[in-house]
Amino acid sequence: MRKKLIVANWKMNKSVEESLEFLSGIEQNLSGLKYDLVICPPFISLFAMKAKADKLKISLGAQNCFYENSGAYTGEVSPHALADLGARYVILGHSERRNYFHENGKVINKKILKALENNLKVILCVGEDALQRHERTEIEFVINQLKECLHSVNSEDILRITIAYEPVWAIGTGKIVSSKEAQEMASKIKDFISQSYGNFLSSKISILYGGSVSKENYKEFLSLSCIDGILIGGASLDLKNFIDIITH
Ligand code: PGA
Repeated sequence: MRKKLIVANWKMNKSVEESLEFLSGIEQNLSGLKYDLVICPPFISLFAMKAKADKLKISLGAQNCFYENSGAYTGEVSPHALADLGARYVILGHSERRNYFHENGKVINKKILKALENNLKVILCVGEDALQRHERTEIEFVINQLKECLHSVNSEDILRITIAYEPVWAIGTGKIVSSKEAQEMASKIKDFISQSYGNFLSSKISILYGGSVSKENYKEFLSLSCIDGILIGGASLDLKNFIDIITH
């Protein structure tokens, strides 16, 4: 059985020095990894963290990238350069990118294709907001996001994408979906992948849950057979909290 995946999304938190201290803290508290671990720090920390992360068998991921490898795009970060410095993953489609930076499905799709072309693994975030959940249109909404974001991703590449179901109303709010709701969404996502890529690939694709995962509730999500891991924001920033999660 494959290990479950834990992804830490640090968002815009921690300086380079703080990022390195955090890794040293993990090193002192870790004896063998029960989970596959990915840390997504701010871009500026990636390079500095690489050697120690390798030693600890922790993969590094970026929180975003651009849809071109180089050129006159002031302030953007190249997926080619990210892969070159040793990032293995990139988070794309996060609701904060969609909301604050107006990234739509088309843009996210272009970023996904470019990231895959550069051999990065993609953590694609999808999820409904509170109104859609209230109106019970969340499944249709998420499937639509998948259709847009996965446009022209081929069968050879689909397993290099991990789908993170992150209801927007659950991110940073302390609210979470019930196990039943998480299971229902995961199974609808699998159905969609099955229709588009066949049963075999659908059975292999990983689905994560994200949104207010904490040391109090993470076990509930990791115990679900249809959920292959968790994406943690706030609760991954505090060393003690994070160690508690990854070591139990
Ligand atoms: P949260 O964030 O765990 O703080 O809710 C999760 C995310 O946005 O990826």
